[in-house]
Amino acid sequence: MKKLIIINGPNLNLLSKREPKIYGSLSFIEFLSVVKEKYSNFQIDYFQSNIEGELIDKLHEVGFTYYGIILNSAAYTHTSVGIGDAVKAIETPVIEVHISNTFSREKFRHKSYISAHAKGVIIGFGLQSYELAIQSFL
Ligand code: DQA
Repeated sequence: MKKLIIINGPNLNLLSKREPKIYGSLSFIEFLSVVKEKYSNFQIDYFQSNIEGELIDKLHEVGFTYYGIILNSAAYTHTSVGIGDAVKAIETPVIEVHISNTFSREKFRHKSYISAHAKGVIIGFGLQSYELAIQSFL
Protein backbone atom coordinates (compact mmCIF):
# COMPACT_ATOMS: atom_id res chain seq x y z
CA MET A 1 0.00 0.00 0.00
CA LYS A 2 1.29 3.49 -0.86
CA LYS A 3 2.32 5.43 2.20
CA LEU A 4 1.51 9.10 2.80
CA ILE A 5 2.33 11.08 5.90
CA ILE A 6 0.85 14.32 7.19
CA ILE A 7 3.41 16.30 9.17
CA ASN A 8 2.13 19.18 11.27
CA GLY A 9 4.30 21.79 12.95
CA PRO A 10 3.99 23.93 16.05
CA ASN A 11 0.67 24.72 17.72
CA LEU A 12 -1.33 22.57 15.32
CA ASN A 13 -1.88 20.11 18.20
CA LEU A 14 -4.25 22.82 19.50
CA LEU A 15 -6.60 22.72 16.50
CA SER A 16 -10.24 23.12 17.66
CA LYS A 17 -9.11 25.17 20.68
CA ARG A 18 -6.75 27.57 18.92
CA GLU A 19 -8.28 30.68 17.31
CA PRO A 20 -11.28 28.74 15.91
CA LYS A 21 -12.31 31.71 13.72
CA ILE A 22 -9.09 31.22 11.75
CA TYR A 23 -8.42 27.50 12.13
CA GLY A 24 -11.89 26.01 12.65
CA SER A 25 -13.36 24.02 15.50
CA LEU A 26 -12.62 20.47 14.38
CA SER A 27 -9.72 18.68 16.04
CA PHE A 28 -7.11 17.26 13.72
CA ILE A 29 -7.55 13.77 15.12
CA GLU A 30 -11.29 13.84 14.27
CA PHE A 31 -10.52 15.09 10.76
CA LEU A 32 -7.78 12.49 10.33
CA SER A 33 -10.05 9.56 11.12
CA VAL A 34 -12.48 10.76 8.41
CA VAL A 35 -9.81 11.09 5.69
CA LYS A 36 -8.13 7.82 6.67
CA GLU A 37 -11.41 6.04 6.06
CA LYS A 38 -12.20 7.98 2.89
CA TYR A 39 -8.77 7.36 1.32
CA SER A 40 -8.24 3.85 2.65
CA ASN A 41 -6.30 2.89 -0.49
CA PHE A 42 -3.43 4.84 1.11
CA GLN A 43 -1.73 4.25 4.42
CA ILE A 44 -1.94 7.73 5.96
CA ASP A 45 0.43 8.32 8.87
CA TYR A 46 0.45 11.39 11.07
CA PHE A 47 3.18 13.21 12.96
CA GLN A 48 2.99 16.47 14.87
CA SER A 49 5.74 18.29 16.72
CA ASN A 50 6.32 21.69 18.21
CA ILE A 51 10.07 21.19 17.83
CA GLU A 52 11.85 22.22 14.63
CA GLY A 53 14.53 19.50 14.74
CA GLU A 54 11.93 16.75 15.25
CA LEU A 55 10.15 17.88 12.09
CA ILE A 56 13.48 17.73 10.20
CA ASP A 57 14.25 14.26 11.64
CA LYS A 58 10.83 13.00 10.51
CA LEU A 59 11.32 14.39 6.99
CA HIS A 60 14.67 12.51 6.81
CA GLU A 61 13.08 9.33 8.16
CA VAL A 62 10.22 9.15 5.65
CA GLY A 63 11.71 11.16 2.80
CA PHE A 64 13.28 8.30 0.84
CA THR A 65 10.63 5.61 1.23
CA TYR A 66 7.18 7.23 1.41
CA TYR A 67 5.05 8.01 -1.62
CA GLY A 68 4.10 11.50 -0.50
CA ILE A 69 4.44 14.01 2.31
CA ILE A 70 1.83 16.62 3.24
CA LEU A 71 3.57 19.27 5.30
CA ASN A 72 2.13 22.12 7.31
CA SER A 73 5.20 23.44 9.07
CA ALA A 74 3.01 26.20 10.57
CA ALA A 75 5.03 29.13 11.95
CA TYR A 76 8.34 27.48 10.97
CA THR A 77 7.24 27.90 7.34
CA HIS A 78 8.14 31.56 7.65
CA THR A 79 11.43 31.16 9.55
CA SER A 80 13.07 27.79 8.98
CA VAL A 81 15.88 27.50 6.45
CA GLY A 82 16.51 24.07 8.05
CA ILE A 83 13.07 22.66 7.19
CA GLY A 84 13.31 24.17 3.70
CA ASP A 85 16.71 22.48 3.21
CA ALA A 86 15.30 19.15 4.46
CA VAL A 87 12.43 19.33 1.95
CA LYS A 88 15.01 20.02 -0.76
CA ALA A 89 17.26 17.16 0.41
CA ILE A 90 14.71 14.34 0.36
CA GLU A 91 13.27 12.45 -2.63
CA THR A 92 9.62 12.03 -1.64
CA PRO A 93 7.47 14.84 -3.07
CA VAL A 94 6.19 17.31 -0.49
CA ILE A 95 2.93 19.22 -0.75
CA GLU A 96 2.98 22.32 1.44
CA VAL A 97 -0.41 23.06 2.97
CA HIS A 98 -1.87 25.81 5.11
CA ILE A 99 -5.28 25.97 6.71
CA SER A 100 -5.61 29.74 6.53
CA ASN A 101 -4.87 31.96 3.55
CA THR A 102 -1.47 33.16 4.72
CA PHE A 103 -1.45 35.85 2.00
CA SER A 104 -4.50 37.55 3.48
CA ARG A 105 -2.80 37.73 6.88
CA GLU A 106 0.27 39.52 8.29
CA LYS A 107 3.17 40.24 5.95
CA PHE A 108 5.54 37.89 7.82
CA ARG A 109 3.27 35.00 6.81
CA HIS A 110 3.72 35.75 3.10
CA LYS A 111 7.27 34.34 3.09
CA SER A 112 7.74 30.55 2.90
CA TYR A 113 11.06 28.73 3.11
CA ILE A 114 9.25 25.57 1.92
CA SER A 115 7.40 26.58 -1.26
CA ALA A 116 10.42 26.68 -3.61
CA HIS A 117 11.21 23.03 -2.79
CA ALA A 118 7.64 21.71 -2.64
CA LYS A 119 5.93 19.88 -5.47
CA GLY A 120 2.89 22.07 -4.90
CA VAL A 121 1.29 24.42 -2.42
CA ILE A 122 -2.33 24.42 -1.17
CA ILE A 123 -3.34 27.37 0.97
CA GLY A 124 -6.49 28.68 2.56
CA PHE A 125 -9.10 25.92 2.26
CA GLY A 126 -9.32 25.11 5.95
CA LEU A 127 -8.72 21.46 6.80
CA GLN A 128 -9.81 20.69 3.24
CA SER A 129 -6.32 21.87 2.19
CA TYR A 130 -5.02 18.52 3.53
CA GLU A 131 -7.68 16.58 1.65
CA LEU A 132 -6.85 18.36 -1.62
CA ALA A 133 -3.20 17.44 -1.04
CA ILE A 134 -4.14 13.76 -0.54
CA GLN A 135 -6.16 13.90 -3.77
CA SER A 136 -3.10 15.21 -5.62
CA PHE A 137 -1.42 11.84 -4.91
CA LEU A 138 -4.33 9.79 -6.34
C1 DQA B 1 -0.61 28.00 9.27
C2 DQA B 1 -0.28 29.45 8.95
C3 DQA B 1 0.94 29.92 9.71
O1 DQA B 1 1.24 31.26 9.41
C4 DQA B 1 0.70 29.80 11.20
O2 DQA B 1 1.87 30.16 11.91
C5 DQA B 1 0.21 28.47 11.62
C6 DQA B 1 -0.75 27.76 10.78
C7 DQA B 1 -1.92 27.54 8.62
O3 DQA B 1 -2.09 26.34 8.47
O4 DQA B 1 -2.76 28.37 8.28
O5 DQA B 1 0.51 27.99 12.72
O6 DQA B 1 0.44 27.17 8.76
